[in-house]
Amino acid sequence: MSGSLPPRLAPGATIGMLGAGQLGRMTAMAAARLGYQTHVYAPDAAGSPCAQVSAAATVAGWDDLAALERFARSVDAVTLEWENVPVATVEHLRRFTSVNPGPNVLSVAQDRVKEKSFVNALGIATAPWRAAKSAEDVARAVAEIGPRCVLKSTRLGYDGKGQARIGEGTDPAEAWAAIGGVDGIVEGFVTFACEVSVIVARGGDGAMVAYPAVENRHKDGILDVTLAPARVAPETAAEAERVARRIAEALDLVGVLAVEMFVTADGAVLVNEMAPRPHNSGHWTMDACAASQFEQLVRAVCGLPLGSVERQADAEMTNLIGEDALRWPELMAEPGARLHLYGKAEARPGRKMGHVTRLLPRT
Ligand SMILES: Nc1ncnc2c1ncn2[C@@H]1O[C@H](COP(=O)(O)OP(=O)(O)O)[C@@H](O)[C@H]1O
Ligand SMILES: [Mg+2]
Repeated sequence: MSGSLPPRLAPGATIGMLGAGQLGRMTAMAAARLGYQTHVYAPDAAGSPCAQVSAAATVAGWDDLAALERFARSVDAVTLEWENVPVATVEHLRRFTSVNPGPNVLSVAQDRVKEKSFVNALGIATAPWRAAKSAEDVARAVAEIGPRCVLKSTRLGYDGKGQARIGEGTDPAEAWAAIGGVDGIVEGFVTFACEVSVIVARGGDGAMVAYPAVENRHKDGILDVTLAPARVAPETAAEAERVARRIAEALDLVGVLAVEMFVTADGAVLVNEMAPRPHNSGHWTMDACAASQFEQLVRAVCGLPLGSVERQADAEMTNLIGEDALRWPELMAEPGARLHLYGKAEARPGRKMGHVTRLLPRT
């Protein structure tokens, strides 16, 4: 079976995973719990967080057509944990097996300009933005939007990388140079009351479930803490959920989608970005919900009914970045702390090493 729609795969089947990081690892663990195996494919798969818990690993490039074909023929369906897998890779794999989310979803999510255009075309608000392919474009955008902006590379940014803040007196050429002189997007700076995200899972039959909106606090551009649920007005939470469902539907997504949003002081919801995969702000679902975001991805790409998003507890998830992970003895000794470590050998600064979830009485 090839192409888009996942066949219904019984336990025992093998899921192909593109990308070898912690999101793939936690998906593979959810798959194993349901009796499925994982075969990971990535240029850096050797010894990776995902390979450590997978039945098989292929170490090969995204453009190695022969290796991709062998991989596709050895698995029953393919998914991904990294949205920047080249679209051509996914198109090639789709000649041999189902791959979800598909190339159309990836091409939107890989490019901030396409992403914002797509969202705005649905009538959903974002910060004001302009595409910028030169320092002159940056200067023009700032003149139009206002002095406080954020310049971001259009592609491949994560954890605040590939971004430059612009304020009164910032030289547009310096901001442009700071992101490496690549194609960018200038966004108006949003003075948000808080940041929220909603994670949606959608099956090949169009069935959809959404976890409650959660609140995200960032430190140095990296997610620090997620509070589930978000402490926002019920109407705001409902609007955030509506927006995420609308986007998933318009993308014809099969899989899991996270939508990051800003909530302004007057309760308006503005979309920041999206990721068609499990998301750091959904890790709490592993410990607090009937089915986790990772299990939902397994179910969606195996053509199974989606699981329950019912929340059995509220939760606070804290990332362990770099040397934070050295606190594992203390965290293991803390009653009720649910510690997750990703099997990464080196605690480099800024690297996501693990997370800890603490459950709270359900509100
Ligand atoms: N337009 C903006 N206004 C205010 N803060 C922003 C804006 N864009 C990004 N940020 C801040 O930077 C963080 C990271 O930016 P984001 O666009 O989500 O990129 P990344 O891919 O690195 O997560 C956001 O979560 C938010 O805290
Ligand atoms: Mg983000």
